[in-house]
This record gives sequence, structure tokens and C-alpha cells, in this order.
Amino acid sequence: MSGTIWFVGAGPGAADLLTLRAARVIAAADVVVWAASLVHADVLTHARPDAEIVDSSRLPMEGVLPLFRRAAADGLTVARIHSGDPALWGAVQEQLDLCRALGLAVEIVPGVSSFTAVAARIGRELTVPEIAQSVILTRLEGGKTPMPPGERVREFARHGTTMALFLSAARSGQVQAELLAGGYSADTPAVVAYQATWPDELVAPCTVGTLAATVKEHRLWKHTLILVGPALAAAGTRSHLYHPGHFHGHRRAEPAARAALRQGVTARAERPT
Ligand SMILES: C[S@@+](CC[C@H](N)C(=O)[O-])C[C@H]1O[C@@H](n2cnc3c(N)ncnc32)[C@H](O)[C@@H]1O
Repeated sequence: MSGTIWFVGAGPGAADLLTLRAARVIAAADVVVWAASLVHADVLTHARPDAEIVDSSRLPMEGVLPLFRRAAADGLTVARIHSGDPALWGAVQEQLDLCRALGLAVEIVPGVSSFTAVAARIGRELTVPEIAQSVILTRLEGGKTPMPPGERVREFARHGTTMALFLSAARSGQVQAELLAGGYSADTPAVVAYQATWPDELVAPCTVGTLAATVKEHRLWKHTLILVGPALAAAGTRSHLYHPGHFHGHRRAEPAARAALRQGVTARAERPT
């Protein structure tokens, strides 16, 4: 016998912010493993009534290992639920390696990450033409998990683009100092989001200069995501994608608009009708 472990992205919290595949996999699983500390309980509404539910939040990896062994021995299907997308800070790689060593089949179902959920919540695009074309996903150095060399927040801040800071709210003073030291101005827009899409979510717009005070005012330290960067308040620029002067395999360019585009006129004032 050999079972299958599905590593399922459960999204940021709301039970209807999972993919259809995630819901289907959870509904088919013999065992659902979830971390009550990170995943909203509503996600379990997708599970079979007779599924075995295991809360992993109190278990070290060694505590989940017997379950993986049982899955291999009994041919069970396990849905291992992770918050957001499993590719980000989910301790997934070590579990994948373990499962493969046990001869289990493994599959990953991507999920809605908290950083995109927060962008949706504040109604913003994170990559605005001419303002920010990159998004840095990182965390503050100096926590429990050591950072590799060259990954300090102040070094990333030098790019001045959009940055999403995970797992960092408990040291908001240091976050703010690093962002300023890296070159963001104090008036750069920022947002602090606690438990985005949960019933008790809190979304607080601020600036880099008021970031630490905002986090402290609301007494946030866990389950909080910070977004910063000029894209959070930018307006007036325009992507080439829908510009009438831009052509691609499915659309011809309008000659006059094409000429203007080639001269570097990006039609800031123009709006599609
Ligand atoms: C262990 S990491 C997991 C990240 C997750 N894989 C993702 O894609 O969002 C946990 C951190 O993600 C962020 N996070 C996850 N869900 C969140 C939510 N609903 N609201 C705000 N931040 C969240 C917080 O920074 C939290 O400390």
C-alpha cells in the first residue's frame, strides 16, 4: 500500500477563497491535517463528515510522522492544509522530502497567498506601470529562522518597489527602521493587515513613517502582513497591454497610437473608452 499526501493551499482564511481543486481534495481526503493557529476553521467545512481531523499546531514534525507512516501503510489520502500558498513559509519542503522517502505520492495544490488577498482587500494592483514592476516577498531578519546572507530588509528596500513582509509584525520598530534605512521615504504608503479575510480582520493603511505606531496601536504581532511601496497609492500611469498602440498575436495596433507609443508617449491622460 502507499497513500497520497496532498499539500493544499487553504488561502488566507475565508472558506470560499480556496481553489476548486483544493476544495475537491479536502472533500475526498481520509485524513485532514490542519494548523488551527494559522488556518481558519471554516476551511474544514469542505472535509467529509467521517474524515479524521488532526490539528498539527501543537505537534512538531515528529508528531505528524506517524500519520504519514500510517498513510503509507494503509494507502490513505491525506490533505495537509497550509495557509495561503504552500510555496511560501509553510515548512513544506521538509515534509515533501519526508513523504517521498516514505514512498508516498505527493501533490501540491496552490493557494491564494495572504499578500494577494491583502492587495485585493485594499483594492490595489501591486505592479503599477512605471512605478513598481517587481514585488519582493520577504521577512525581517533576526527572528527564530536565520536569514541567508544578502537578504536583509534594508537591502531589498533599496529597490524602492512593492514589498510584502511576512512574519515580521512582532518587531515593527525594526521593520520601520530597516525600510527607512534602505531608502523608502517616511511618506511611502503602507498597509498593515491582520487576519485578512477572517471575520475579525483588521486592515490599517499607514505610511512607512507611521508603520510601527500603527502596528503597536492595534497590538498586532502575529498573523499580520505588511505591504509597502509607492504602488499602493500610485495613479495616472498606463500599461502598454491595453494601449491601442500595442499589438500582439490577438490584436492589431492603431497606427497613430502606435506611432505615439514608439515616441515614448504612454498616453497617461488617455483612458480606454
Ligand atoms: C507561516 S507564514 C505562511 C504564509 C502563507 N503561506 C501565505 O502564502 O500567505 C504566516 C504569515 O503569513 C502572513 N499571513 C498569512 N495569512 C494571513 C492573513 N489572513 N492575514 C494577514 N497575514 C497573513 C502573516 O505574515 C503570517 O505571519
